[in-house]
Amino acid sequence: MPTREHHAPPPKLPLFARKVRYGGDYNPEQWPRETWREDVRLMREAGVDLVTVGVFSWSRLEPEEGELDVSWLLEVLDLLGAAGIGVDLATPTAAPPPWMAARYPETLPVDERGTRYSGGSRQHFCVSSPAYRRLALRIVEALAREVAGHDAVELFHIHNEYACHVPRCYCDLSAAAFRAWLVRRYGDVDALNEAWGTSFWSQRYSSFDEVQPPRATPAFQNPTQVLDFARFSNDEFLEECRDEAEALHRVRPDVPVTTNFMGAFKPLDYFAWARELDLVSTDNYPDPADPDSPMLSAFHYDLIRSLDKSKPWMVMEQAASRVNWRRRNVAKVPGEMRATSYQAIARGADGILFFQWRASRFGAERFHSAMLPHSGEAAPSWREVVGLGRELASLGPLAGTTVEADAALVLSWPSWWAMEEPGSPAADVTLADQVAWMYRPLYERGVTTDVCHPGEPLERYRAVLLPSLYLVTEEEGANLVAYVRQGGTAVISFWSGIADERHHVHPGPYGGPLRPLIGCDVLDVTPLPTGDEVEVEWDDGRRTVADLWVDIAADRDDGTVLARLASGPWSGRPVVVSRGVGDGKALYVGARLDALGLGRVYDRVPALRGAETLAAAGPGVERVVRSGGGVSYEFVINRSGEQLEVPLATPGTELLSGKPVAGTVRLEPKGVAVVRRG
Ligand code: GLA
Repeated sequence: MPTREHHAPPPKLPLFARKVRYGGDYNPEQWPRETWREDVRLMREAGVDLVTVGVFSWSRLEPEEGELDVSWLLEVLDLLGAAGIGVDLATPTAAPPPWMAARYPETLPVDERGTRYSGGSRQHFCVSSPAYRRLALRIVEALAREVAGHDAVELFHIHNEYACHVPRCYCDLSAAAFRAWLVRRYGDVDALNEAWGTSFWSQRYSSFDEVQPPRATPAFQNPTQVLDFARFSNDEFLEECRDEAEALHRVRPDVPVTTNFMGAFKPLDYFAWARELDLVSTDNYPDPADPDSPMLSAFHYDLIRSLDKSKPWMVMEQAASRVNWRRRNVAKVPGEMRATSYQAIARGADGILFFQWRASRFGAERFHSAMLPHSGEAAPSWREVVGLGRELASLGPLAGTTVEADAALVLSWPSWWAMEEPGSPAADVTLADQVAWMYRPLYERGVTTDVCHPGEPLERYRAVLLPSLYLVTEEEGANLVAYVRQGGTAVISFWSGIADERHHVHPGPYGGPLRPLIGCDVLDVTPLPTGDEVEVEWDDGRRTVADLWVDIAADRDDGTVLARLASGPWSGRPVVVSRGVGDGKALYVGARLDALGLGRVYDRVPALRGAETLAAAGPGVERVVRSGGGVSYEFVINRSGEQLEVPLATPGTELLSGKPVAGTVRLEPKGVAVVRRG
């Protein structure tokens, strides 16, 4: 195993030099001028030092086509700047003004059944429409010219949650852009026919002109057409984002650009997006009613931190309490917002912002919580918002410290797009479920985990996990095999290495370029009927169970079988197999083992065992360390409803109380400790 290289610390953006930033979306256009002054006063009281302005302001900034009015925005920026509150200047391109649809109806997007969306909401645009692109770039250039030079501007916020509501448009303009994209990808139509496997169901094209987006069809669509349309749609949005970023950077190269991601959001390949930005940001809305929320939220932040490991990241939006877009919108219990905020900071965030600053009185989101609720300073959540703002001011800067992970979970967006299709053996096997299955024990054991693209350097990790890496390219496979040969450990789940980048099945036994890592021959697979379980017997005679899926595999001389199926028609077949490869090892898991079974796999991998001391403290404790420059911060968070006594790694100063601590800390339900050393 080569010496592990640690992440280079992210560049110290001036934005984060003094402290963890705090604030939210500020929508002054919803309020009269008198309120702006009160906003600024209350923002100062809450310790707010960064607000996103202008994110849905297009119809105020350009009330009629070509007529710009930025005077009100400059007035707001003056007020904020004078109060020492930084501005995250947003581009308004996620909500085109009504005049656009009226004058250029082709800018409205179309769904797969040919229905055109209306305005009156947001994200009602087709990203491939030349008129939208021209008008979007024009308002961004105007903001760059007229507003971006303001002293208060510290960050640029491009658009808002790209592709959130309309991830794909199927209009004729999109069809033309798709064809142009296909010409660039394949060159000639024969190459497209070959890649798309069009000899199946008489789909052969004689010209690119015959190709359409995968609109509604009577039966299953061509899977490669669907995959390529997902790639194309991702690329179209990314190109638009890049255009906006360049327009802003031309005027203010010193101001970083970001756009707000949404965690593991399927339509956009955020690995590719993160490369284009100066810092990564995300919106996270864990459901307070879901007991899995702390785990899912931890994964969300681990993913965001990992998208570009050389860049800082921040939370662009979270809710102070309720959202308004679930069927039932449960409020966060006291302490929950604070605990989740520290969860993000522990996992590397340098800023905590909310949607939104002041609760709206009208519009679709009037029942969404805000930092300043309808009841204002009297509301209980306001006290929590103010409390957190004060704490963050006393925490000092954490920028430049990093979260070191020994384990990595491998994720690929093209694989995700390809895997979840109706023609697969089990259309209800989703990547999100597979990831949660493999991540949950890591979360519970306190094993800090990065998320990696299958093609990126992996040697710094002691173990990597592959939850159903369905589509693997030759290069990605070679990278993963080389990682193991050089001393790494890989844990690979079923339904991995099935398809190539054209979505063609690798010839069996399954595994494709991952086969050197699989110590058995996977000859076939079978999903199990819902509710069915099979028994699994381990090499020490113990038994666990599995559900959802089993591989039908055969022994091979070069694999060591750790567990076999022990009931049902495939009883005796290998199901957990270890194989030494070069200086490393690969463990193949051919069924969805229960928690006990998966725990037994992880127990065999030192990097996945976790800290026993943490487990002893009880369920619901999170511990993550940020370190750098001779200083470390141990974050301990009690997500449970019980008081817990949690052992600390080493003594230090607990920053939130200012007291020295050693041995253990006592944490109230939802309590947090941040122990500084050095
Ligand atoms: C998203 C959007 C915000 C707002 C919130 C509500 O994150 O970016 O504009 O709609 O959801 O939760």
